[in-house]
Amino acid sequence: MAKKIVLAYSGGLDTSVAIKWLMERGYEVVCYMGDVGQGTDIERSRKRALRIGAKKCIVGDLKEKFIKDYAFRALKAGALYQGKYNLATALSRPIIAEAMVDVAKKEKAAAIAHGCTGKGNDQVRFEVTFHLKAPKLKVIAPVREWELTTRESEIDYAKKHGIPIEQTKKKLYSIDRNLWGISVEGGDLEDPWVEPPKDTYISSARIEDAPRKAEYVTVTFKKGVPVAINEKKYAPVQLVRKLNKMGGVHGVGRVDMVEDRLVGIKSREIYEAPASTILYAGHAAIEELVLDRETRRHKKLLSERYAELVYYGLWFVPLKEAIDAFMDSTQTDVSGEVKLKLYKGNVTVCGRKSPKSRYKLELATYGKGDVFDQSLAKGFIDLWALPFKR
Ligand code: ARG
Repeated sequence: MAKKIVLAYSGGLDTSVAIKWLMERGYEVVCYMGDVGQGTDIERSRKRALRIGAKKCIVGDLKEKFIKDYAFRALKAGALYQGKYNLATALSRPIIAEAMVDVAKKEKAAAIAHGCTGKGNDQVRFEVTFHLKAPKLKVIAPVREWELTTRESEIDYAKKHGIPIEQTKKKLYSIDRNLWGISVEGGDLEDPWVEPPKDTYISSARIEDAPRKAEYVTVTFKKGVPVAINEKKYAPVQLVRKLNKMGGVHGVGRVDMVEDRLVGIKSREIYEAPASTILYAGHAAIEELVLDRETRRHKKLLSERYAELVYYGLWFVPLKEAIDAFMDSTQTDVSGEVKLKLYKGNVTVCGRKSPKSRYKLELATYGKGDVFDQSLAKGFIDLWALPFKR
């Protein structure tokens, strides 16, 4: 009997060719597609997998779990890799990999595979999760191993084996999309001097084309998690979809950066994440109001560390889980409303309130009703300077 292998399938060229390539090596291929809101025609891809020769193609709806347990965790942590990237792709890998391991166990598969190259971060994220969740499974990375080193040779291979594909030999971007954001790389973008051509961005308007009129939006947070837009409640997935639309219209959430990959390469990346850009701004505004100074300060240190762990594929490691516990304990008071203005690519916080606010007008005011005892300041400053005096 042929050995079974579970392959992470996207419907694209690499993983379509991978089905055949694995079959040629004696495997019975079970494809797995994790739906994290990539917005492609999943049913069409599923049929394509079967047509190529996969024994099965299983689709898992991971959207809600992805937003609730992955994206919103990163939001609570305020995690941005190198200060800019919201980790949309990075967050999607552990959830897909874990779901694949469950399928592999159910199917009694001997091996597990993904379509990542040997140059990126995604291979690390998939494989670390495989190793931690199913240490005995053999891992195969066809794209890293095969002799089809160029796009042209892959297309030729596909033609030779009657694999239905939509790609042409034109050099294209590599795009990874989910509900939390879009990552685009390659093609003309490989030159960091080149301004992203018009077609690079998918979900957001060009700043030049965005409306000349600002739009206000109010977001309600409960314990660090967004629950309503303009006073109307939304489930997590719908809330993110709605904000992606609203932000997209105003060209919000575009990032153009050069980042440091885990494997040592610098790469130029274009990201698009309207909803998360709005939510990060709103979330931070409520934290400013409710968190004490020292917690804010310490949380910031851990935010950076958290982003690195996620980027490095270390989602299921003890430190990441310990930081989650810390983050959760900082979020108990992060409830309230924030008013934001969307305009020409910008999100501007213009108001915030919270029942748990630490802002005390009677202390802050320079007007009437001031209760701050200014006579205490002198003694405080004397002692503050004391350790540094000679
Ligand atoms: N550089 C980003 C990351 O490592 C995005 C990777 C996008 N992957 C892709 N196939 N385009 O998270």
